[in-house]
Amino acid sequence: MVKILGIETSCDETAAAVVEDGRAVHSSVVSSQVDLHARFGGVVPEIASRAHVELVGDVVAEATMEAGVELHELDAVAACHGPGLAGALLVGVSAAKAISLATGIPYVGVNHLEAHLYAAWLVDADLTPPLAVLLVSGGHTTVVVMEDHGRYRVAGETVDDAAGEAFDKVARLLGLGYPGGPAIDRLAPDGDAAAIRFPRAMRGEPDLSFAGLKTAVANHVRAHPDAPVADVAASFQEAVVDQLVEKLLAAADEADAPTLVLGGGVAANSRLRERVTEAGEAAGRRVLLPPRALCTDNGAMIAAAAWWQLTAVGPTPLDDVTDPNLHLVSR
Ligand code: KG4
Ligand code: ZN
Repeated sequence: MVKILGIETSCDETAAAVVEDGRAVHSSVVSSQVDLHARFGGVVPEIASRAHVELVGDVVAEATMEAGVELHELDAVAACHGPGLAGALLVGVSAAKAISLATGIPYVGVNHLEAHLYAAWLVDADLTPPLAVLLVSGGHTTVVVMEDHGRYRVAGETVDDAAGEAFDKVARLLGLGYPGGPAIDRLAPDGDAAAIRFPRAMRGEPDLSFAGLKTAVANHVRAHPDAPVADVAASFQEAVVDQLVEKLLAAADEADAPTLVLGGGVAANSRLRERVTEAGEAAGRRVLLPPRALCTDNGAMIAAAAWWQLTAVGPTPLDDVTDPNLHLVSR
């Protein structure tokens, strides 16, 4: 029985959780900074770092209290050490290292992308690779074949914008505010997804692209200022989802992976979840959709990934540094 405290401060959520053996969530606290950034239309890195400094102590205290453990009773403390905003990452990593130094429990530095992937084990404790995984967040859009624990092969990734970034930019264009993904998700059901045929980029290729789609939406809105916003939102969302589903299914076919997994903030999207579920059924593949709260940034996924990493390769030295551009690499 190994209890790990996971801390996540890579972007605009200050989060902490206590998870046992990489699977059982004892507590999970997420403090969103959305209100602080909304009036700027996006995350302001300096504001995010300062807010993390103010919040991280309370969030950790709440997570340990809810789990009924004292810091020294934990078996390890983990933090996301990349990828993410440089200053924001430093806050969580410094907090985790301080806890490690003060209590003597080991520190584990966790890759944010690997954490999104390991959220799946919080849903199915017995999940076994190979898996075809779609990691879709504000900063990343990657189709990964997880061949085994710690063994990843990137089947395809975006050559320009991330899917979440496209949602956020298009939402801003449509005057829907920040964060854009949830706003478009909410509005799209009121619109006609077939109203406008936006382009689907890189058909038949493993990689993805969203920059052209974003421009197509901007051009359409300029040419048709009276087009119903819900139709534009729904048609845009359908174009993104089409691309994502095509690439995920192709990777699963190519790797003969029996299970499809979604991870990352955009995995909370209702239409994406619906379409992947349908596509999985049609292809005879199992679909594992973590609940929305485990798709968007949280501490539980950090603690989960940390358990697998601790078990396989041991603790991370305290002189480990943060890396804002960290990639998903096999151990
Ligand atoms: O994983 P995440 O919480 O943070 C990063 O690691 O980036 O992902 C945030 C991204 C944002 O771009 C946000 O707009 C998008 O996920 N997102 C959504 C939804 N919820 C969050 N996109 C589409 N539909 C949603 N329901
Ligand atoms: Zn994320």
